[in-house]
Amino acid sequence: MSAVGVGIIGVGVISDTYLENLASFPDVEVLVVGDLLVDRARAQAEKHGVPAWGSAEDVLAHPDVQLVVNLTIPAVHVEVSAAAIGAGKHVWSEKPLGLSRDGVAGLLEQARAVGVRIGSAPDTLLGPGFQSAKRAIAAGVIGEPLFAQTAFQTQGPDLWHPNPGFLFAQGAGPLLDMGPYYFSALVSLLGPVDRIAAVGMKKQEQRRIHTGPNAGDTFPVEVPSTIQILTAFESGTQAQSLLSFDSALERHGILEIHGTEGSIVLPDPNMFTGRTAYVKPLGVLRDGDPHEQTWIDVEETGTVTGRGLGVLDMVRSIAADRPHVASGELGRHVVDVLLSAQDSAATEQFVKVESTVGPVPLLPDGFDPLAATL
Ligand SMILES: NC(=O)c1ccc[n+]([C@@H]2O[C@H](COP(=O)([O-])OP(=O)(O)OC[C@H]3O[C@@H](n4cnc5c(N)ncnc54)[C@H](O)[C@@H]3O)[C@@H](O)[C@H]2O)c1
Repeated sequence: MSAVGVGIIGVGVISDTYLENLASFPDVEVLVVGDLLVDRARAQAEKHGVPAWGSAEDVLAHPDVQLVVNLTIPAVHVEVSAAAIGAGKHVWSEKPLGLSRDGVAGLLEQARAVGVRIGSAPDTLLGPGFQSAKRAIAAGVIGEPLFAQTAFQTQGPDLWHPNPGFLFAQGAGPLLDMGPYYFSALVSLLGPVDRIAAVGMKKQEQRRIHTGPNAGDTFPVEVPSTIQILTAFESGTQAQSLLSFDSALERHGILEIHGTEGSIVLPDPNMFTGRTAYVKPLGVLRDGDPHEQTWIDVEETGTVTGRGLGVLDMVRSIAADRPHVASGELGRHVVDVLLSAQDSAATEQFVKVESTVGPVPLLPDGFDPLAATL
């Protein structure tokens, strides 16, 4: 065997990162990039040394492409992934996997029928930071998880994204844009969600683009730009989560799990690396005893790379006939959870989450993205 042929559809802002990382993995080779804007595909192909470019159809027609990486905007994720599956290709999709429960369920069914695999971002779950933290929790450093907290609060991506309208439209907002990082991490650690409640709000009805050729233009805010969520997991574990594009205080990447024998602070779930540390209970305190807690660091093992790890895990898993970590089933459950939070914010009722997902595996020991293994 040798490197697996990959084609990318959608070469916007995030495609540089993918193209750089995928080029560093010997087990994959990007053969073609495609976009609605063929000139953009050509420019990215030339910039990154990709031999072919064109439309989405050109990517699907390439005979040596076995896996398609879908980096289009969320509104067309299902349509583009379905076309790729229809062409017999495995699919890695950027998040969210889709914007409707039916759309995502249809994709999974189609992939099963055709006999190809689906993977869904985020693949930060595969980074050494999260993997090391997950191994420590599995080893029992905090005992049994009881409850969790997550927080993502910023002024909003309209400050830096040249085309931010889609991030405030149906299918995005902080819930569907950033929620996949936090809820994929929570589900990977705590298992499937049983029910969810949320409240949401908007700071403004219109926002402004701050950078790029359209700076100064306004666009509508269609969905809550702040949402607060209570999550009950099937295991009985609970979580509270804040997701906001309206906060003057920039604070993100908060992911804490509190267990029967300790509390652990994990790396930012939107990052591939970062500090993990835990504390043990102080125990019985007498008057005058110091209350400082001692942080115990978890050693981070593994090679740090970045976006594209999920693609690599897929091609290696296919070759080894093992399940890949960031699976379509996980992506589907997370979409269901996020849509349930959206429904709850709209109805002010707890929403029962109908889908479920099996245990999310760890990466195999010694997984080295930079090794040639195929
Ligand atoms: N920008 C980021 O920092 C970032 C980070 C992580 C994940 N993502 C995710 O990556 C995806 C893309 O985000 P982006 O910021 O690169 O968006 P973008 O708008 O910059 O790029 C999207 C590209 O897809 C193309 N496209 C749209 N519909 C298409 C279709 N039907 N066929 C072919 N091409 C099509 C567009 O022409 C554009 O070039 C989104 O799902 C987003 O959630 C983005």
